[in-house]
Amino acid sequence: MAAAVHQPPEHVVKGAHVDSLAKYKDMYARSLSDPEGFWGEFASQFHWNKKWSTGADFHKYNFDLNKGGISLSWFNGAETNVCYNCVDRHVKEGNGDRVAFFWEGNDVGQATTTTYKELQDMVCQIANYMKSQGVGKGDDVTIYMPMVPELPAVMLACARIGAVFSVVFAGFSAESLAGRISDSSPKMVVTCSAVKRGPKHIELKKIVDEALQILDNEEELHIPRVLVYDHKASGVSRDAIQASPVEGRDVWWQDVIGDQSTDCEVTWVGAEDPLFKLYTSGSTGKPKGVLHTTAGYMIGAAATFNYVFDYKPDDIFWCTADCGWITGHSYVTFGPLLMGAKQVLFEGVPTYPDAGRCWEVCDKYGVTLFYTAPTAIRTLMACGEQHVTKHKRTSLRILGTVGEPINPEAWRWYYEVVGNSNVSVVDTWWQTETGAHMITPLPGATPMKPGSATLPFFGVEPAILDDKGNEVEGPGQGYLVIKRPWPSMMRTVAGDHPRFEQTYFSHYKGYYFTGDGARRDEDGYYWILGRVDDVINVSGHRIGTAEVESALVGHHLCAEAAVVPVDHPIKGQAIYAFVTLMNGIEYPPDESVRKELVAQVRKAIGPIATPDVIHWAPGLPKTRSGKIMRRVLRKIASKEEDQLGDTSTLADPGVVQVLLELRGK
Ligand code: PRX
Repeated sequence: MAAAVHQPPEHVVKGAHVDSLAKYKDMYARSLSDPEGFWGEFASQFHWNKKWSTGADFHKYNFDLNKGGISLSWFNGAETNVCYNCVDRHVKEGNGDRVAFFWEGNDVGQATTTTYKELQDMVCQIANYMKSQGVGKGDDVTIYMPMVPELPAVMLACARIGAVFSVVFAGFSAESLAGRISDSSPKMVVTCSAVKRGPKHIELKKIVDEALQILDNEEELHIPRVLVYDHKASGVSRDAIQASPVEGRDVWWQDVIGDQSTDCEVTWVGAEDPLFKLYTSGSTGKPKGVLHTTAGYMIGAAATFNYVFDYKPDDIFWCTADCGWITGHSYVTFGPLLMGAKQVLFEGVPTYPDAGRCWEVCDKYGVTLFYTAPTAIRTLMACGEQHVTKHKRTSLRILGTVGEPINPEAWRWYYEVVGNSNVSVVDTWWQTETGAHMITPLPGATPMKPGSATLPFFGVEPAILDDKGNEVEGPGQGYLVIKRPWPSMMRTVAGDHPRFEQTYFSHYKGYYFTGDGARRDEDGYYWILGRVDDVINVSGHRIGTAEVESALVGHHLCAEAAVVPVDHPIKGQAIYAFVTLMNGIEYPPDESVRKELVAQVRKAIGPIATPDVIHWAPGLPKTRSGKIMRRVLRKIASKEEDQLGDTSTLADPGVVQVLLELRGK
């Protein structure tokens, strides 16, 4: 049966930047045939201290390992500053009084507004303080903060002085944070006393202390300065937090930032100078620092924000993502501010104090553009329509989704119940590595099919490869790859260019490998099928199976572990761990062992990596060469053991039966 098609509603089409499929197709064709003209025209609304070189120098690349190392650059020769374009440009144009952030705290009633001028003042004060501490161009800064306006302000302050920031999601554990700090050797760590998330208090400063203690013990690194924002609204006061300040290292934000001048000259940086690193999980090893540079990322974030959300100056935008993820970078901090948007900055969770919070906030601010993840949609869907329908939601024009495949049922609920079947839904496929939307509908142009990310954004040329690496023509299914660079693409893995080449360019020479599978239908629409590598997408967050396995074997009772994804009705996928215990322990062991193992993973990575199931495995299915057959484990985890396939290559076929017997024990 052909998938249902929903046309963009008339009120969305009218006045849209791209108001027909034909116009999208024209613009798309031009973006591929004339990248310099296409991107140059969009980029000219921003401030450039020095214009880019034209002709062959504008954009250079090698995408094919057969022809040498991978490299790419855009807007060569240009100089600009992302912070200037996000903040100063708007103040200069007379928009200093315009609201940048409507901050909505975790608890109902906690709310502040920050204008562009106020943001500029705050950013300059932070930047001046950083400079006074010796932080300058090319230096690293690690940020571990909750969703308060000070978080994007610190990101912008770094960009202002050319420092390279790395935001670590303030839900990662001390050990994870330590790993990320040690990888980037920052001159400063910026954190916060505490945060209240839903009903829970989390003492962030204490976690930073623990992380730095780990590094101190390992004598890996000395962090000269920790700047701590006293977040009074968290309910945990500066004096009550358990962490004791480390003399000479820790400084309270409120003691030093207010004294700084609100003028801070911008450091002009080159188009390819680094802007930020963001750590993300892959199929092997520890998380890698995805490096994004200045001009290409800036233009990618701004252009997608403009076209995919069909942004107009009267819009009120709200992206629920945390700045600890790429979505919060591109669609909280950069895309919206670059375009001078007014947006909601939300500290809380969609279900606190009840499942109507999102729609209450939408009504309060008149949100027109709303962007969230399928897992949030499914959570709210399970709570019942009454939480939605008791709020008006009449301001909503476009609803976006990101992070994982959205099941058609959740799509329809979002469209029909939240959007009253009178909105465009944009299902945006992209990645930390891509920096900005890659495959997505344009709200005024693209007919929607529930569950499909639809068509490529400007400048993006996807392809589907079969098992042999040949391109699939027309409808078909296989590995999703991209055939040429786009401006906001990552440039390298920080400090490890060979890993960048190996991860993304060695599988299929001449293509960027996304790690996703996809299907293309008869209309050229893409349907993302999920990861084809050893990455689990839990509630839209990437967790490497290798990371969870290494956390588990870090426990003294665990001899071996194998982790696979299993479908989950709310989270999309959940973590399912097969665990072999040390010799001599009987199966099933005492219940406390399971608890300890789960705690071990939470400690090593964070609560987002909590395994849903620990399945005791006296033996794991392995080939004769000792390779774990994950295919078999996936089938057992999803209770599809009738479809185990060929198990004749197993070194010991008997292990499967033992595993089945131990299920649920
Ligand atoms: O598998 C895809 C899935 O999320 C992965 C990227 O994860 P991350 O780098 O953490 O970035 C998430 C936010 C951009 C992709 O490889 N993914 C992301 N968006 C979608 C998606 N899968 C299906 N549909 C989407 N819209």
